[in-house]
Amino acid sequence: MSVDLAKLNAAKAAARLVEESRVIGVGSGTTVERFIDVISRDEGFRQKVYVPSSLDTALKLSRAGLKVLYPSAASGVEVYVDGADEVDFSLNMIKGGGAAMTLEKILAFYAERRIFIVDHTKLVDRLGSKHPVPIDVLPHAISMVLSELRRRGFRAELRLAGRGKVGPLISDVGGVVIDVRTGPIEDPKGLEEELRSLPGIVETGLFIGLADLVVVGYPDRHEVLRRR
Ligand code: 5RP
Repeated sequence: MSVDLAKLNAAKAAARLVEESRVIGVGSGTTVERFIDVISRDEGFRQKVYVPSSLDTALKLSRAGLKVLYPSAASGVEVYVDGADEVDFSLNMIKGGGAAMTLEKILAFYAERRIFIVDHTKLVDRLGSKHPVPIDVLPHAISMVLSELRRRGFRAELRLAGRGKVGPLISDVGGVVIDVRTGPIEDPKGLEEELRSLPGIVETGLFIGLADLVVVGYPDRHEVLRRR
């Protein structure tokens, strides 16, 4: 499928951009999975150390025979590579489609360089156009956070685990995920500040000013967007 090819093209380009780095943070999702496929086939990448942003990524890295360093033992990473659900033209993003945004944001924030890899369908004029903003919430605070969000006019829904587990999805950091449907967001930074001001919300999927580069894959090429 053409979107798969677009993801692969972004992943291949990112591999070239990080080949000098020794400690690489790795995000989560299907585009990152393509990145792991690409680097695991290259001998040069076997000497490096990888810090995963989720259990899923840790398993994929170790199954590919790559060395994994648990995030709590990593003082930072030279470069961080991750996907995104939406990217605007200021390189702000919505992430958390895979519910891994808390650790993803920690790794991105403390990284020396941050590269995001997306297929072209992820580009939007305004964040919130297609995806809700996910938030990671302490389980004790679910009901209070939900009712406060609704009181403020947000459409907020608890994300359910789906097949194999009843009830809420539990994030990698032991939180529950609430999806906040906003529609196109006028002021992403303001919304991030508002959500983060509510006790019980551990992290949000709004990534503001955290991308140095976004590699956008197309079926036949890639383009690099740089933060101005
Ligand atoms: C996980 C994420 C992912 O990076 C995001 O959902 C993009 O995933 P994909 O590459 O599968 O489209 O934020 O929490």
